[in-house]
Amino acid sequence: MVDQATRSLRQNSLNRICHEQSPKVLITGIGTGLDIPMLDERSHYIGLDITPAMLKKADQRAQQRPELDLKLQLADAMALPFENNHFDVVLMHLILAIVPNSLRALQEAERVLKPGGQLLIVDKFLKRGQWAVGRRTLNMIIRHIATKTNVVFEDLLDHCQSLSVVMDEPALANGWFRSIEITKSNHTE
Ligand SMILES: C[S@@+](CC[C@H](N)C(=O)[O-])C[C@H]1O[C@@H](n2cnc3c(N)ncnc32)[C@H](O)[C@@H]1O
Repeated sequence: MVDQATRSLRQNSLNRICHEQSPKVLITGIGTGLDIPMLDERSHYIGLDITPAMLKKADQRAQQRPELDLKLQLADAMALPFENNHFDVVLMHLILAIVPNSLRALQEAERVLKPGGQLLIVDKFLKRGQWAVGRRTLNMIIRHIATKTNVVFEDLLDHCQSLSVVMDEPALANGWFRSIEITKSNHTE
């Protein structure tokens, strides 16, 4: 069901990557690997997840794509085991609203992304000032067992000085899900 509902979202997000120079791509929170069938074989990928069972399923999907340069790794999106400015592209599909500390995960993506690199996000966010009583109430109930439904993306971005939005468009469910492309400048603080 998740695969069906999110397939075109993923494809649109992945289509924004330019593969001509074989970029290094980090897939944060790769889950069961629903992105794997859509990955372009010219690029180099590291897919990480904190849950071994998810990585096992992702590995099964990866085996259907032996031509891909894809390494799977157990790691925490909030404490990435990579040096600064390492990746050309970071993908965050349905992960920012899941991790306990969304800001930390975004800042880690910012850290490991090269200046001029691309951060591609698909997730559900509230807009700043959006009241959304239902979603805020739902968040109180499900945040400890599932995803958060009250993350305001702009509030996270305020704390990431080198990131700026290139594209931000509604993707699903009346704009609750958004597809966002970010770039990293040379600005350091
Ligand atoms: C909703 S799934 C999305 C998976 C995949 N990105 C997709 O689009 O289908 C969220 C994934 O994030 C992983 N996850 C949760 N917390 C994490 C963390 N701190 N670091 C890395 N992965 C995490 C979960 O194990 C799960 O596989």
